[in-house]
Amino acid sequence: MNKKTVRDVDVTGKRVLVRVDFNVPQDKKTGEITDDTRIRAALPTIRYLIEHKAKVILCSHLGRPKGVTPELSLKPVAQRLSKLLGQPVQIAGDCVGPRAEGLAAALQEGEVLLLENLRFHEEEEKNDPGFAKALASLADVYVNDAFGTAHRAHASTAGVAKYLPAVAGFLMEKELEYLGRALADPKRPFAMVVGGAKVSDKITMLENILPKVDALLIGGGMANTFLKAQGYDVGKSKVENEHLEFAARLTAQAKEKGIDLLLPVDAVVAEKFEAESPNKTVNVDEVPKDWQILDIGPRTVKQFSEELQKCRTVVWNGPVGVFEFPAFARGTQAIASVLARIDATTIIGGGDTAAAVERQGLADKMTHVSTGGGASLEFLEGKTLPGVAALLDR
Ligand code: 3PG
Repeated sequence: MNKKTVRDVDVTGKRVLVRVDFNVPQDKKTGEITDDTRIRAALPTIRYLIEHKAKVILCSHLGRPKGVTPELSLKPVAQRLSKLLGQPVQIAGDCVGPRAEGLAAALQEGEVLLLENLRFHEEEEKNDPGFAKALASLADVYVNDAFGTAHRAHASTAGVAKYLPAVAGFLMEKELEYLGRALADPKRPFAMVVGGAKVSDKITMLENILPKVDALLIGGGMANTFLKAQGYDVGKSKVENEHLEFAARLTAQAKEKGIDLLLPVDAVVAEKFEAESPNKTVNVDEVPKDWQILDIGPRTVKQFSEELQKCRTVVWNGPVGVFEFPAFARGTQAIASVLARIDATTIIGGGDTAAAVERQGLADKMTHVSTGGGASLEFLEGKTLPGVAALLDR
């Protein structure tokens, strides 16, 4: 990675503003944090700063509030972080202004303060220079460890870096190294498994990734458009007719370049898009007229598994079926199990794919599970992430 990191700056005795991504899922009724992966992922940077006697000022967004929204306060996050760190974490009632300034100024070496939800101020998402300056005024050094939000050009991810020496945290570094190496210098064969509901969400990524891979395995709702482009009748399955041409072109390009493009050969079909819908497994040329494809079938799982077993690097982005419904989760579970077993660098793009792997308890069997959904997708699309671009070059 060509960006400076927290190792490259002197943090001892300094007030260090750390942008973390504590946008964690919470139980709608109780507000309880249901998955603290993102909090745990930020611990190495926070612990390093504590050990190096920095005064640690953390900031994050939570959800997408419009104005101050008490249910989206970061208080529960401060409590969880305090437990994980084994030391108190103060929570400021705001992220800028006198309350935040007072607490930041009073911090002692090794103490930790968490500012209140950045998005309680609309200036955050507008990347307002005055707001960025106010945040910067709390600290001497800025560390961005929020890979999950690095695709947003907001005040706390981009703007603030204009006013302070800006470096990457360890999570940011790790994410960029794993994802970057997979794309730039993968051990071969290199395969990508792509799923998810829609082709339209993945077009830029597929265009960027195709020249880099040896094999492309397509599942999920998006595979329907590829199947239809090949002339299959996919019944009532969701198809994006406006992207049939793209699907045909990508398939032709793969063939021309000698890249293995694997599509489902069989599927679990359902009468309705419902968890309890009647379902059966059929070949892709036998999808009943009124039924829809909700998962890949066992023959596809076998073919995909055989292909993946040959690989030394695999990146996976997007579930291959409707994994929220147990009856249609088997394909996604099987892919996760294969990746957990094979002797390869396995990288899980964040969001739904990470959730699927975690639900199966296989996250620690993967080489890297990204904490960024949108951010990892944009990275795989080859885009420059504003939160990374803002950091000092090495
Ligand atoms: C995420 O969960 O993808 C990040 O925290 C970014 O959140 P956002 O999509 O609301 O900007």
